[in-house]
Amino acid sequence: MMSHTPPANPLLDVRDLSVGLTNRHGAFLAADRVTLQVKTGQSLGLLGESGCGKSITLRALLGLVPHPGEIVGGHIEWKGRDWRSFSRREIMKMRGKEIAMIFQDPASCLNPVFTIGDQITETLRLKLGLRSKAAQTYAADLLDQVGIPAPAERLRLYPHELSGGMRQRVMIAIAIATEPDLLLADEPTTALDVTIQDQILNLLARLKDRTSMSMILVSHDVGVVAQNCDVIAVMYAGRIMESGPAREILEAPRHPYTRGLLAAIPQLRVGAGRPPLKTIAGLPPNPAALPQGCPFQPRCPSARSECGTIPVTLDRKLPGHGSACPFVN
Ligand SMILES: Nc1ncnc2c1ncn2[C@@H]1O[C@H](COP(=O)(O)OP(=O)(O)OP(=O)(O)O)[C@@H](O)[C@H]1O
Ligand SMILES: [Mg+2]
Repeated sequence: MMSHTPPANPLLDVRDLSVGLTNRHGAFLAADRVTLQVKTGQSLGLLGESGCGKSITLRALLGLVPHPGEIVGGHIEWKGRDWRSFSRREIMKMRGKEIAMIFQDPASCLNPVFTIGDQITETLRLKLGLRSKAAQTYAADLLDQVGIPAPAERLRLYPHELSGGMRQRVMIAIAIATEPDLLLADEPTTALDVTIQDQILNLLARLKDRTSMSMILVSHDVGVVAQNCDVIAVMYAGRIMESGPAREILEAPRHPYTRGLLAAIPQLRVGAGRPPLKTIAGLPPNPAALPQGCPFQPRCPSARSECGTIPVTLDRKLPGHGSACPFVN
């Protein structure tokens, strides 16, 4: 008998998500029609220069856009259900349990007046219903998992008594405590030295294998994304410029911005006879004063006059691998 398995719905399906913010130049879109899908067990790497909207996009997925900013358009589906149909209560319940986030700035997420142990066990009590003794034991176990030595003693310390790297690891411990379905990891290992970074990434990879956790990983380090992600989305000025399977993007990038970004990465330039490292000329634009058409055109080596009027939408020339540049490749 033939069995027919329908294609799995993505765990997270984001369509044309736009987030409006205001800075001193005025109102602007920090995320502009962002479309992303994450399947169960999949890791998506989000790449792009500083200020392109990576953190805001992740925050929007948790309903945590900083006030007075707000989601101004688009559609988010979580496990096939429209995000707008979730009540506030349901979202509060889900946050940190089904979807957890490692914030880019760990200092801002820990409360200075409570010990590390209090903060971890509070999460374990609220999200997992663990009682005091079990919560203490699991909290120490979590600190051990993220490579914090003498975990039982560390639980008694206050955030300011820990180094920045230790605080970041505490945040990671809190985020993975519930074994979430989706982990939003915003530069999770930037403040950590290389050994600890590897240890954390291995821990996340094991968690992913064991629990089919999905992840969106924001990193400046293309090497980290290359090693840990199945798909990559490249963002520029709030727009997704290219997205597709990680291997394809790294080996045969289509969009001129992706090419520029990868050419500037030393880790990918192993081997003799490569041309010297290039950086992308110019600076990312002021998000409140973007050029018409493609926002990358002022810096693009392949720009032409039509770029001032083209829509920035991902094409479908390759299955599952879209580029927003209609002129290159
Ligand atoms: N609370 C806020 N109010 C107004 N503008 C903001 C706010 N937070 C961020 N921005 C602006 O929104 C844009 C996107 O910011 P975001 O933090 O998402 O960038 P990013 O890609 O995460 O950068 P980085 O790699 O440096 O972390 C930037 O222009 C930033 O200055
Ligand atoms: Mg950021």
